[in-house]
Amino acid sequence: MSALAPVIAVDGPSGVGKGTLCQWLAVRLGWRLLDSGALYRLTALAALRRNAPLEDEDRVAAVATRLEAEFTVRADGGLRITLDGTEVGVELRTEQCGNAASRVAALPAVRAALLQRQRDFRRAPGLIADGRDMGTMVFPDAELKLFLTASAEERAQRRHKQLSQQGLDANLKSLAGEIAERDARDSQRAIAPLRPAADAEILDTTRLKIADVCAWALALTAQRLTLPELR
Ligand code: C5P
Repeated sequence: MSALAPVIAVDGPSGVGKGTLCQWLAVRLGWRLLDSGALYRLTALAALRRNAPLEDEDRVAAVATRLEAEFTVRADGGLRITLDGTEVGVELRTEQCGNAASRVAALPAVRAALLQRQRDFRRAPGLIADGRDMGTMVFPDAELKLFLTASAEERAQRRHKQLSQQGLDANLKSLAGEIAERDARDSQRAIAPLRPAADAEILDTTRLKIADVCAWALALTAQRLTLPELR
């Protein structure tokens, strides 16, 4: 039996910069990318489209099991995401969708329905896995586990900038409130709460530039994994 492909797990709260770091690492190493938050967002969006109440665990889990979603990597490393054959990139990134995702993500049957789908992304030459429970639940045997933090204020600012750049409507004050609500739900839920794995490397990025975060991650990758990509 062949050995499993290596995984770098990147976890942390909303708006901390995981997505940017993960995309950069995936391009730098030529590895695959799992945006696990997108799977929860897609589940929420599909449930809303099918008029399934977000707290109806059985119905939402059935939606997650049958999710017709596709991820394709663009030349710039960004992801093109489709639901039922139609691109949903912009709709998926709204804070409303993030909030709906965090509601369905608290349901154990939904998490169970998405578990194997996430693990199936683990293929050669390696996987960068972006989420909340990559290092604790989905890939507990990951070769490297990174956990990013930043103050809630800084994360609201970053998310605001990101949404504005995408042409999405964003109000800093309401964003800060929504992020706080999402943080509380994600870290207090009974199943797979947001927390660093015992063996995770933790970095507070509040005062750092993204280039510093990327350099930190790459240095740890080079220390822990013997990769021809880094020679
Ligand atoms: O990372 P993103 O903002 O896209 O995630 C949306 C929501 O999906 C999070 O607030 C969280 O509740 C949920 N999520 C999760 N586990 C993951 C990734 C995301 O519970 N691995």
